[in-house]
Amino acid sequence: MRLRGGRVTAAKAGSALALLATGHLPRQIVFERAQAQDLGTIWQLLDLSSLPLEDVTEALLEHFLVGRLDTRIIGVVGLERYQDVALLRSLAVAKEHFGVGFGRQLVAAAEKLAADMKITSIYLLTTTADRFFEGLGFRRLQRDLAPLAIKNFYQFASLCPASAVLMVKP
Ligand SMILES: CC(C)(COP(=O)(O)OP(=O)(O)OC[C@H]1O[C@@H](n2cnc3c(N)ncnc32)[C@H](O)[C@@H]1OP(=O)(O)O)[C@@H](O)C(=O)NCCC(=O)NCCS
Repeated sequence: MRLRGGRVTAAKAGSALALLATGHLPRQIVFERAQAQDLGTIWQLLDLSSLPLEDVTEALLEHFLVGRLDTRIIGVVGLERYQDVALLRSLAVAKEHFGVGFGRQLVAAAEKLAADMKITSIYLLTTTADRFFEGLGFRRLQRDLAPLAIKNFYQFASLCPASAVLMVKP
């Protein structure tokens, strides 16, 4: 994971460029806290992924991350805090970048943010990507076993159909 502002030595940069030239370096995204000016692009990504965007407002962006490849936003993920747990939501990667690890990197970045926020468990709801999240260590949980804070979540009650799978980590 590349951190903005991190120091890269000339030798490392040289070898990275050499690897890139041969196509052997996996492309990495830079993660940043989402800003108000990113909202339009985030809505677009969510809309194209058929994910809810009605409640994604500037205020909600506090714990949202965007992933940039070069300067372009190619992915988004958000956390909503409920006491000491969080709901991971709004994970979307631009379709043309599917399958090269960006989804996995976005979830890892959200998990790091959750750890910084002293979150004890991350919950999520998904109708399409349960296998993806299983691969990242999330396990399925019966919806009625969710903590009240998560059950009260707007999306839990109204935005997601009853068929959505609830998952948690750890
Ligand atoms: C789900 C999503 C974020 C995955 O992004 P991605 O960048 O393509 O995923 P990665 O390349 O990091 O994939 C990591 C692994 O998960 C697998 N995977 C990816 N999407 C998957 C899915 N929907 N179901 C099962 N496995 C999936 C990949 O094959 C890969 O497996 P590997 O490690 O064995 O090669 C992306 O498909 C997406 O934006 N979907 C639409 C929105 C969505 O469903 N969001 C989740 C609901 S919150």
